[in-house]
Amino acid sequence: MSYLDVAVDIAREAGKMIKSKLDTDFVTEEKSSSFDVVTEIDKASEKLIRDRLREAFPDHKFLGEEESFQHETSLADRLAAAAEDDFVWIVDPIDGTSNFVQRIPGFTVSIALACKGELTVGVIYDPCRDDMYYAEKGKGAFLNGKPIRVAETEGLSRSVVSTGFPSDPQMREAVFDSLREIGSQSRTVRALGSAACHLAYVAAGKLHAFWEYGLNAWDIAAGVLLIQEAGGTVSDAQGNPYSLATRHIVGSNKGIHESLIAVLKPLGY
Ligand code: IPD
Ligand code: CA
Ligand code: CA
Ligand code: CA
Repeated sequence: MSYLDVAVDIAREAGKMIKSKLDTDFVTEEKSSSFDVVTEIDKASEKLIRDRLREAFPDHKFLGEEESFQHETSLADRLAAAAEDDFVWIVDPIDGTSNFVQRIPGFTVSIALACKGELTVGVIYDPCRDDMYYAEKGKGAFLNGKPIRVAETEGLSRSVVSTGFPSDPQMREAVFDSLREIGSQSRTVRALGSAACHLAYVAAGKLHAFWEYGLNAWDIAAGVLLIQEAGGTVSDAQGNPYSLATRHIVGSNKGIHESLIAVLKPLGY
């Protein structure tokens, strides 16, 4: 089985497990603050994904949101090492935990594979819709087996863009600053509660763009490859190329990318 096939199977298995727990009484805790929550299902999903990947690829490294929380090595150092490693799986076991906690559909499982810092596989699974988005470097992007492309460009004023509200208060302020600008120049803005879902929607042409500040590799790695393989563009908020360390992200259908960067760059993040 290819890396992609394994990742797709594992994302589906984890997503089904998560969905089966949606209406149960799971334990929820606050992590760094009351803005940042984790459930026992996030942890169970990450364990499931990690165990399955370890069985399939014992030599590959693993970087997941929940194990990173109290890891002895800093995330910056682990990402720097990942840029040299042959195979690192980057995993968000539930992206959109706040949706999950509120029993709102629209949470996803995000699994990416980086080889020497280059994204080679990206999988995003939405278990409530049973939608599987996936991409492999150089081989295009797909939703449930059908090729996907980013939307046509009709200018920012005819674009539906998306963002999210980071748990870090400073980063949240940055989103508010940018929302004032982009919100007044675009057709409308959506905040659906999962960065991975937004990026998958940009890749599939359902949204024209996504931007947010203060994200981490597990939130965006799979979605970045999806957008790139679907004909879109991804950069940081200053217009620099994406790397695993990128935290302020802009992903778009390409045509409106420059307009977005022109708005975001002066904000200085
Ligand atoms: C969060 C989601 C949300 C975004 C936050 C992320 P999590 O991830 O992607 O949409 O606005 O910044 O932290 O914690 O649900 O995996
Ligand atoms: Ca989280
Ligand atoms: Ca996330
Ligand atoms: Ca998460």
